[in-house]
Amino acid sequence: MDFKAVVFDAYGTLFDVNSAAEKCKHKIGDKWEAFANFWRTTQLEYTWLRSLMKRHKDFWQITEDSLDKSMNVFNVDTSMKNELLNLYKVLSPYPEVKEVLTDLKKKNLKLAILSNGTPDLINELVSTNNLDAFDDLFSIEAVKIYKPDSKVYNLPVNKYKIQPKEVVFLSANTWDVSGGGNFGYNAVWVNRNNSHFDNLDYKPKKEIKNLKGLLEIV
Ligand code: LAC
Repeated sequence: MDFKAVVFDAYGTLFDVNSAAEKCKHKIGDKWEAFANFWRTTQLEYTWLRSLMKRHKDFWQITEDSLDKSMNVFNVDTSMKNELLNLYKVLSPYPEVKEVLTDLKKKNLKLAILSNGTPDLINELVSTNNLDAFDDLFSIEAVKIYKPDSKVYNLPVNKYKIQPKEVVFLSANTWDVSGGGNFGYNAVWVNRNNSHFDNLDYKPKKEIKNLKGLLEIV
């Protein structure tokens, strides 16, 4: 198969969503990881619920709304809110990301991010981490509905005038792999935490432990 584009999810796939809370673990204490996971889960639930309710708010507002709830639930001091939000803007990439992108750049493929994040958020993540390999940063703000709506997955296909099956899509989020796969992408699951896949009418074309495994696929 001749692939034309490699499209990456951002949060959890390229960037470590737990790194914001981890950087504050000395203040939050032992519950930091449970708190970080709850924040992430609530944030995602809000994206799905807002899409279904047709009450769109951008990903930054949703990140803040879900943080408020999580701080409440976990009794985290409200004085930490701005610190956590600021850290979320500069999340760390996973260790292999830079090197894999440099190797991919040598191939004749479009490289892009497709994310729930706002254009400002994705731009900032890419520029603070010096990731300059991408041809495009696609944000769901172009269609104002969240993944896994097919309008989102259609963005790169539309721009590059290619077929969904010519896209290799990578996500560490199982539901996003199912969404992209059901759309017609060759969806690859980046199973960083040795976890279990979903039952949502799609099984990943490949499963890799981290993005280095991608170099054997394209
Ligand atoms: C994103 C979320 C789903 O970047 O991780 O779109």
